[in-house]
This record gives sequence, C-alpha cells and structure tokens, in this order.
Amino acid sequence: MTTRESLIARLAAHRQQHVLAFWDALDAAGRARLAAQIESIDLDTIDRLYRNGPDHEDFGPLMARAEPPPAVRLADAERSEGALRAGAAALSAGRVGALLVAGGQGSRLGFPHPKGMYPIGPVSDRTLFQIHFEKVLAIRARYGQPVPIYLMTSPSTHAETVAFLDRHRRFGLPEDELILFCQGTMPAVDARTGRLLLKDRDQLFLSPDGHGGIVSALEASGALDHMRGRGIEQLFYFQVDNPLVPVCDPTLIGHHLLANSELSTVVVAKTSPHDRVGNAVLVDGVVRIVEYIDLPDAAARAREPDGALKFWAGSVAIHVFARSLLERAAGNHQLLPLHVSKKKVPYLDDSGRRIEPADPNALKFERFVFDLLPAAENAIVIEAQRRQIFAPLKNASGAATDTPEWVRAQMRRQYHEWLTAAGVAVDADAAIEISPWTALSAEELQEKIERGQWCVGSGTELP
Ligand code: UD1
Repeated sequence: MTTRESLIARLAAHRQQHVLAFWDALDAAGRARLAAQIESIDLDTIDRLYRNGPDHEDFGPLMARAEPPPAVRLADAERSEGALRAGAAALSAGRVGALLVAGGQGSRLGFPHPKGMYPIGPVSDRTLFQIHFEKVLAIRARYGQPVPIYLMTSPSTHAETVAFLDRHRRFGLPEDELILFCQGTMPAVDARTGRLLLKDRDQLFLSPDGHGGIVSALEASGALDHMRGRGIEQLFYFQVDNPLVPVCDPTLIGHHLLANSELSTVVVAKTSPHDRVGNAVLVDGVVRIVEYIDLPDAAARAREPDGALKFWAGSVAIHVFARSLLERAAGNHQLLPLHVSKKKVPYLDDSGRRIEPADPNALKFERFVFDLLPAAENAIVIEAQRRQIFAPLKNASGAATDTPEWVRAQMRRQYHEWLTAAGVAVDADAAIEISPWTALSAEELQEKIERGQWCVGSGTELP
C-alpha cells in the first residue's frame, strides 16, 4: 500500500513534495486519487524536459536544411487508377481499419462536450461522429467487409463519448467493430520553477498526452491485438474535427500500398505562410512534419523564384499507417519525442488559493503522431485539393474561418459541386446535405443519378 512516506520519498528526489501540501485534510478517496496520479508520472522525464527543453531538435537549423517534399498528386488520373484498384482490393479483403482521434479538449471551439458530438450537418444537424461513422458504414457496405473503427478518447472526453455512442447505438456499427480506448495524460509544470501544478487539493493538473499518445494507448488497450486478430494491416487515420475527410478512400490507401509505404500523409497547398497547419517537408532525404507553431518565420515566408510558397505542403492530419509501424513504435517509445508548449494553466498555490493566470505560466507536454514519419519505411506525401477534403471545425463563431458557420458553408459548397458535376441544377443558396449513405464522392453521386437510383428533391436532406 502507498504510504505518505513512500510518496514523499519519491517526490523529494525531484523536489516535488509540495503536491502533498493538503494531504492531511484529504479523505481516503482523495488520497487514493492523488497517490495514483503521482505514481503514474515519470518524474525523471519531467525533470529532463524541464531542464533540457523538448526532446526534438531545434527547428531553425532543421528548416535551414529542409526542402519542399516530393508529392504524389491525387489529381493525376493515370496513377490514381491503379491506386484505386489496389485500395479497393485491400478493402474487399477486409484489411483496412479506421483510426479516429477524438481526445482533444476543443478549447478554441468552446463547446462543452466532446467535439464529435457537435451537430454540423447543414440540414440534418448530423454530428461529426455520425458523419464519420456513416462514411465507414458506407465503405463497409460497398466492399462487403468490416472496417473496424479504433476511436481514441481522453479522460476528459471518454465517458461522454461512450454514453453518446451507446445512446445512438453506434449509428449502426456492430459492437465488435468499434474499439474505444482512452489515451494517457501528462502533468503540467510551472514554467519558472518546474514544479508540478495542482488542479485541486487531491488532483494534479493533467492533460491528454497528444495524439501521439495513440501508440501506447493502442497497445495498452489491446486494440493492436484486435487489429492483428482481425487481419487489419492498414489504418486510415483522421481527426474528429473535419467532416469533409474522405474516410478510408480507396485511392489514398492504394497510393500508400503501391509505394510500399508504412506511413503516407495527405497535404494540401497552404493558403498563407502562417496557415495553421503542420508543414510537410523533406529534411536530409526524410519526410517529416513541422508544426505551424514550430515553423521559423523565415521558413514560413520563403518563396520560390515564381513567388509560390517554398514550404507549400500543409498537413490535413489524414494519414495511412501500416500496422507494422504502429507495432514497432509501441516497442520503442523513443520514436515519439515530447513537445513542450507554454500555456495558461489555472492552479492551486501552496496556501490553497486558486490562481487564474493572465499569461501563459505553465509547460505542457505532448507527443505528435506524425513524428513517426522518419521511422517509417518509404513514407510518402499525397497532395489533394483542399476544398475536396478539408474543412476543420476549430473555432467559435466570430472567427474568420474554421467556425461552425464556415464549416457548414464548406459542406454545402461541396454538395453543390457534386450535384452540379452530375448535371443537377441547384440554387447556389439551396440548403443541401448529402448523406454518406447516398454518396461518398462526386463520382458515386453521378453514377447513382445516371443509373436512376436517386432523384432530386429540393430544400430537404437527400436520402
Ligand atoms: C492539428 C495538427 C496540424 C494539422 C491540423 C489540421 C497537431 C499538433 N497539429 O492542429 O498539423 O495541420 O490539425 O486540422 O496535431 N487530439 C487527441 N488527443 C490529444 C490532442 C489532440 O486525440 O491529446 C486530437 C483532437 O481531438 C483532434 C486532433 O487530435 O481530433 C487535432 O488536435 P488539435 O488540437 O485540434 O490540433 P490543431 O492545433 O488544430
């Protein structure tokens, strides 16, 4: 059993005993909770990060050696035909699963629930979760094989996500095809002193360990075993915030397979030097992603002689992983370095007073899943059209982009384009939504219309 003395001994070695300041006043449950949190922390790592800074190398010198990455163009019809066949074969053989990350706290959106529960369908108010699940179900129906969803939550989104999906009976997904697992956490430390911060008298301040936490969470939860048991070899990875994501798109998966790649990442052309997206770059012959906050200003602004942005390739956080890479990473945690960022973190001071800092006061630690790129065999970059695949919900109403209104407008625009391409005349301002059950792409909609499997109503949700 954990005693106060054993906790003190562990903490004192790292000058962190202050987190026991209120121990004597805690009840048994409070003590057990705090003790478990303290024991789950790797204090050596926290010390090292505080003293030495982040695990990864300095981005200034790194970007000085960087080049724009070579990219496969999805729009290249000739190459894409073979890719479509290869991806379709993998789906028909039941070798593909979906990895959906939904552990973020969505603080910029200001929605007090997991972001996946946000009602975004422009006509139906379908939630992000429903849209993603229906896309997977439509792929499942088309290829006649299960496509398990491995859905990552965090302690702050887990219980509500489980209850929501239960309430909606997983939108029709069979029980053994939805594997929910919760990611781990990391503590925050005071930026000036390196001391752990208390959220409450019986709780450390802990936050999700970044989407890179997916590797250890997949392993610890048994999800990697589930993949192995089901013969799932490729994982289509995406974020919960993007309703335009072409989930399990066979052509994307096919390019990844044809390149014999262990990690393929999808990019779009950046719209400005400081676009808030990761930057896919080639450094010393290796593809990697440098996050927008880490990109030095000079690199962000660098231009080619024709005036185009040198580092043009913006990550939309859609990747295809080979299971082999996830397995290798699970056995070698060094492959995912810890990034450090300075954030505002409210905390209890030593007298028990709650402090709401006006400026960033704390260091938080996260792993980014795209840091696996250098460890991947034959990593490739695939370029797609932004308007076709990317409209992330990030900001509360009032911001210039990535707000609920902006995302709905992007969705309506896409449906409008699909209908127009299929020869259907629609008012530019018509309220339109196309269910994933009806079509997952412009081509599929066109085929259905041509075959007479679908006819157009107006102003209502399409079937
Ligand atoms: C992220 C990417 C950025 C990309 C952009 C595209 C990072 C660090 N950056 O930026 O390269 O261009 O999306 O939209 O990811 N999540 C977890 N657990 C966590 C943290 C995040 O599951 O601990 C999930 C979130 O639920 C979300 C996704 O990861 O689905 C992205 O997180 P977010 O904080 O929104 O990243 P961005 O800064 O927008």
